[in-house]
Amino acid sequence: MLQDTFGRQFHYLRLSITDVCNFRCNYCLPEGYKKDGSPSFLTREEIRLVASAFATCGTSKIRITGGEPSLRKDLPEIISDISALNDVKQIALTTNGYKLDQRIDSWVNAGLTQLNVSIDSLDKNNFERITGHDRLNEIFAGLEKARQLGMTNIKINSVLMKSENAHEFPQFLDWLKTNAYTLRFIEVMQTNDNEVFFRQNHLSGGLIKAQLLEQGWQQVLRDKTAGPAQEFWHPDYAGRIGLIMPYSKDFCDSCNRLRVSAMGKLHLCLFGDQGFDIRHLLQSEDQRQELVAHLQNCLSNKKATHFLQQGETGITTNLSMLGG
Ligand code: 5AD
Ligand code: SF4
Repeated sequence: MLQDTFGRQFHYLRLSITDVCNFRCNYCLPEGYKKDGSPSFLTREEIRLVASAFATCGTSKIRITGGEPSLRKDLPEIISDISALNDVKQIALTTNGYKLDQRIDSWVNAGLTQLNVSIDSLDKNNFERITGHDRLNEIFAGLEKARQLGMTNIKINSVLMKSENAHEFPQFLDWLKTNAYTLRFIEVMQTNDNEVFFRQNHLSGGLIKAQLLEQGWQQVLRDKTAGPAQEFWHPDYAGRIGLIMPYSKDFCDSCNRLRVSAMGKLHLCLFGDQGFDIRHLLQSEDQRQELVAHLQNCLSNKKATHFLQQGETGITTNLSMLGG
């Protein structure tokens, strides 16, 4: 099992397969994705090798992220390669929902077990303003299809922003009355690119938590391997609410995840100051032992927390580099 010097164990890998994204979310890529040279992202085979190496070290959950992972044509094959690894019990995907309705069948057929879709507004016009795309109805159709295909535990990610969508809080709650999704409000995080936006928009999830508790929502007790999200349920609502509050005290204590970028670097934290190159050890199955030893070795550098409170965002230019 991969473990750091603070005793945290890592059974969850977030694996980015591309930096490219077709949306222009105002907190992430307001100008859209800008190609820098001709990046060559991990190949299907390198992805298979990294996933199987992590699986041999106790990784039981792998989330495929981007950029926007569905922009890769070989996504169904990537899902089925990971699905073939016996030790990996959960294969999750985070997507912006683009063409979800047309593609979800092939992902589920390939073995996808969990789906997270980003929806920052339930209002068509506001959604378009935030993301640059008028696609909300199509995303709803995709969610419905995912449900019909038997996916349960679908999560919706909403970045919580003071002047962009906080006023929609009552609508979000209403929506959860009849829609059995887990809606996760994520505090907007500062990156190297969004400092001004961040200052204007950061809203503490603690305020949301206080309102939820006041309205009869109850915190779900979670086991000790659960990650940093806090979850709430209410008897009158079909859906649940999750809060991701990276600025809150002790957020990093329950860190259970590692990240690999689409360029083949291991990131010990979303806001770390370096990525450790592992790509040279993804060239053949024979390098497995060396790779595992290298991973263990890198882990000794993992720090107890991020330093976001002090405005230190590490090398994270925007989250399309690492998929959140
Ligand atoms: N702060 C918080 N969440 C972000 N995401 C992207 N950029 C940021 C940011 N700066 C979210 C996306 C997606 C998830 C992977 O990360 O909206 O839901
Ligand atoms: Fe694309 Fe996700 Fe960034 Fe939006 S938040 S621009 S969907 S990578």
